[in-house]
Amino acid sequence: MTEAPIVNNTLTVEAVTYYNYTTPLEIAKREIKGRSESSFLAPTEILVKTKYAALNPVDVCLWQLCPTWLKRGQPKGFGGDFSGVVLQTGSEVKSFKAGDKIYGDIISPYSPYGSFANYQVIDVTKQTKIAKVPEGLPMEKAAGIVIPFATAYELITRHKNLKDANVLVLGGGTSVGMMGLQIVRHLGAKYILTTCSSKSNSIAYDFGAHETVDYHDKEAEYKQIVEAAKKHGKFDLIFDTCRDEVLVGRLKDVLKTKREGGKYIQVMGSNTMTYGTVRYTDMLPSRGNLREQILSKLRLSNYDFAIGNLSDGAGYAKAVSDMWEKKQFNVLVDTIYKFEEFQKAVDKFQTGYVKGKLLVEFN
Ligand SMILES: NC(=O)c1ccc[n+]([C@@H]2O[C@H](COP(=O)([O-])OP(=O)(O)OC[C@H]3O[C@@H](n4cnc5c(N)ncnc54)[C@H](OP(=O)(O)O)[C@@H]3O)[C@@H](O)[C@H]2O)c1
Repeated sequence: MTEAPIVNNTLTVEAVTYYNYTTPLEIAKREIKGRSESSFLAPTEILVKTKYAALNPVDVCLWQLCPTWLKRGQPKGFGGDFSGVVLQTGSEVKSFKAGDKIYGDIISPYSPYGSFANYQVIDVTKQTKIAKVPEGLPMEKAAGIVIPFATAYELITRHKNLKDANVLVLGGGTSVGMMGLQIVRHLGAKYILTTCSSKSNSIAYDFGAHETVDYHDKEAEYKQIVEAAKKHGKFDLIFDTCRDEVLVGRLKDVLKTKREGGKYIQVMGSNTMTYGTVRYTDMLPSRGNLREQILSKLRLSNYDFAIGNLSDGAGYAKAVSDMWEKKQFNVLVDTIYKFEEFQKAVDKFQTGYVKGKLLVEFN
C-alpha cells in the first residue's frame, strides 16, 4: 500500500482551492501538521489517499456564490464526493482500518477542506457520510454516489411505503433522478414514469422507468403525465429533481391527496441546470413552488408538497450495498479527467450537457 508523504510530522497535500467567486479554481499545496508529536492523526481521524473525486452542482454553486469578504485570505477547499483508500487510522477509530476502500462526502462549505485533494484527513465522528465500498463496486462509480444518491434516498423515503406505488420522477436524466429511479424500483414501485430528453431515454429505462416523457414541450409533457395518471392511477409520489414547474398549481389530476398518502417532494437546487454563472436569485424557490409548500404546511391544501435538502442521508450506505448486491445499482460516469485537468471537468460541467458524473482521478 502507498505510504503517505508525511515528513517531520507534516503532510503536504495538493488540493483545488479558491478564495471567492472572483478568483479561479487552482491547485495549491497546503500543509497538514501532525496532531501530536507521537501521532499524526487525532484519535478519531483517518488518513485517506484519494482515488477519485466527483463534481456536483453544489461545488460549483459554493464557489460561484462565495462573497469576497468571507474568510478573506483563507483558501477554500473544493468538492465533497470521493472514493479512496484508508492509509492510517487514529487510535479510537473502529469502523475503518488501513487498506479499506471507502467512499463518501466531506462537503463542508467554505472550510479549507474538499474532496479535490490527493489526501484527506477525516474526523469520522464529524464527517459521517463515509462508508466502505461494497465488494466489486468500481472505485470510480463509488466516488459519484453520495450527494446524488443520499439526496434521492433521504427525500424519497419520506414516503414510507412505495410497494406497488405509482411514482413520477421529474428529471430522470439528472444524477439525482437516475439514483431516484433505481431507488423507487428497489423499493417496489409498480409503475415509474420519468421526464427526460431523448439523450437520457435509454438510460432512464435501464434505471427502472417504465415510460418516459420529453420535458421540452411543457403542454405536451403535462398532457402525457395526466394520461399516464388516468391509465395507471394517480401518483403516490412525485419526486422533482429539476424544479420542473409543469404540475405546480395543477396537481388535482395527477397526485393522490395528502389523505390518500400522496407526496410531492422537490429537491432544493438552482432554477437553471447550467452553471456558467450562478446567482443568489437562482437558488430561490419559484413563487409557484413556494406557494404550494406554504399552503401545504398551513394545511390549506389537499396536497403534501415539500422542498427538501440532503441532511444526514440516514440509511443510504446500506441501501447502496443492498442494491449493488441485488444487481439493482449503477452509477453513470460521463468522463474521467486527470486531477491536473480538473478545470476541463468544471468547464464541461458548466455547459450543463453532462450525462452522469464528471470525475477526476488521482495518481
Ligand atoms: N438540495 C440538495 O441537497 C441537493 C443535492 C443534490 C442535488 N441538488 C440539486 O438537484 C439538481 C440536480 O442535480 P444533479 O447533480 O442530479 O444534476 P446533473 O446531473 O448535473 O443534471 C444534468 C441533467 O439534467 C437534465 N436536465 C437539464 N434541464 C432539465 C430540465 N429542465 N428538466 C429535466 N431535466 C433537465 C439533463 O438531462 P436530459 O436533458 O438528457 O434529460 C442534464 O443532462 C440540481 O439543481 C442540484 O443543485 C440538490
